Amino acid sequence: MIQDISEVLFDEATILHRLDTLARKISAEYEGKDLTVVALLTGSVIFMADLLRRIPLPLQVDCLAVSSYHGTQSKGTVTFRQTPVADLSNRHVLILDDILDTGITLRTVLDHFAKDKTILSLKSCVLLRKLIEQPRKAEADFVAFDIPNAFVVGYGLDYNERYRNLPLVGVLSPEAITRYAKE
Ligand code: IMP
Ligand code: MG
Repeated sequence: MIQDISEVLFDEATILHRLDTLARKISAEYEGKDLTVVALLTGSVIFMADLLRRIPLPLQVDCLAVSSYHGTQSKGTVTFRQTPVADLSNRHVLILDDILDTGITLRTVLDHFAKDKTILSLKSCVLLRKLIEQPRKAEADFVAFDIPNAFVVGYGLDYNERYRNLPLVGVLSPEAITRYAKE
C-alpha cells in the first residue's frame, strides 16, 4: 500500500498530536452540554476513534452512511444509505467527516439535520480541508489540517475502498489511480 503513496502529508504521530489540540478545543466548546457526535461513514471511522478518545465528555455517538465520491471525483449528489436512529432533541450535534472538498456532502448533511428544530446547535468537524479555488457549499467549524488540492488516501480515506487502513495521510500516485480505477 505504502508504495502507492507519492507523498506522505501527515504520519500517525503528527495526526495524533494535532488531534490532542483539536480535542481540547471541542471539549471546551461542549463542556456542560449534551453532545451527540454524528460520524459520516465510512471515511471518518478512524478519525472518529482517535478523536473521541481524546474528549473526556459524556457524549453520545451515532453514525450516518452517506456517499458522494466515485473514484477521484465528487459526483455532486449525496446518497443517504441509512439515517441516524438516535433522538437528537435538546442535544448539541457535531458532524464528523474525513475531508471537506466541494462541501456538497457536508451541505446535504447539515441541511438534513437543520430540519430538526429540536436540535440545540449544529456544527461540523473535519480531519482534512482541501484548498480549492471554487467557493464551497459548506464550511466546517473545526478543521485538523488544510491540504493541497490532491487526491489523498489513508487514515480512513479510500480510493475505490482501498487504503482506509493506511496509518497516515498521503497523496495517491497517478499509477495507483490508474491501476485501481473501476471498470
Ligand atoms: P465533498 O462532498 O466534495 O466535500 O466531498 C467529501 C467526501 O468526498 C468526503 O467525505 C470523502 O469521502 C470524499 N473525498 C473528497 N476528497 C477526497 C480525497 O482526496 N480522497 C478520498 N476521498 C475524498
Ligand atoms: Mg467518503
